[in-house]
Amino acid sequence: MNWDWDELAGRDDWQDYILPYRTEEQFWAEGLEQAKMLDKFIERREVVCDVGAGIGRVLRYIDAGRRIAVEPTSAFRERIDLPDCLLLRDVSEVGSETVDFAYCLMVYQHVGFSEQGRLTAELARMLAPGGKALIQIPCGPHYKMNLRQIQEATKLAAAYGTFFDDSRVFPGRLAGYETDVEGSQELFILGTQSGA
Ligand SMILES: C[S@@+](CC[C@H](N)C(=O)[O-])C[C@H]1O[C@@H](n2cnc3c(N)ncnc32)[C@H](O)[C@@H]1O
Repeated sequence: MNWDWDELAGRDDWQDYILPYRTEEQFWAEGLEQAKMLDKFIERREVVCDVGAGIGRVLRYIDAGRRIAVEPTSAFRERIDLPDCLLLRDVSEVGSETVDFAYCLMVYQHVGFSEQGRLTAELARMLAPGGKALIQIPCGPHYKMNLRQIQEATKLAAAYGTFFDDSRVFPGRLAGYETDVEGSQELFILGTQSGA
């Protein structure tokens, strides 16, 4: 699913490429629900960074001292309507050890393995001591993956977890999908950097 985001963002139905089959109301309501889920993982909220933020569907509802949106697609970035938010094009532009909580939702299924690795390394780099990152890896039947591919995705998630001082890989429900281990439709990496 390596999409041409600049082309998709110019279409009339561009919103469907961020989250399909939703009315405008559902689109934002799910952003709010996902922000509430994320909130459980946020211990320190001085600086929060959304990597692959789209139009700020989730970040809009995140309570933080400072919000950073990383979004490479300029047409999406320009639609992020959050006055105090720092808008960046690429994850490499975020300062090292400056972020308390970072997250990346609905992005990894769209990039190749090497970009997944780069994003994970960058997420680990941006975390301040004691900071946490939550990365979602959509990988289940919804993405037409069989069990072997899900097992491969789990191994990859575990490998990406090694970028952090401490990490946990788990199936979960964060993007609106019910999941369990067997039929997991998404995996998460929760990476933590050691405290100061
Ligand atoms: C399905 S959308 C999800 C957007 C947002 N995370 C959400 O849940 O509303 C995927 C987003 O990933 C962005 N993206 C694609 N490749 C990326 C990359 N290498 N780094 C960061 N974001 C990327 C796209 O521009 C797009 O906004």
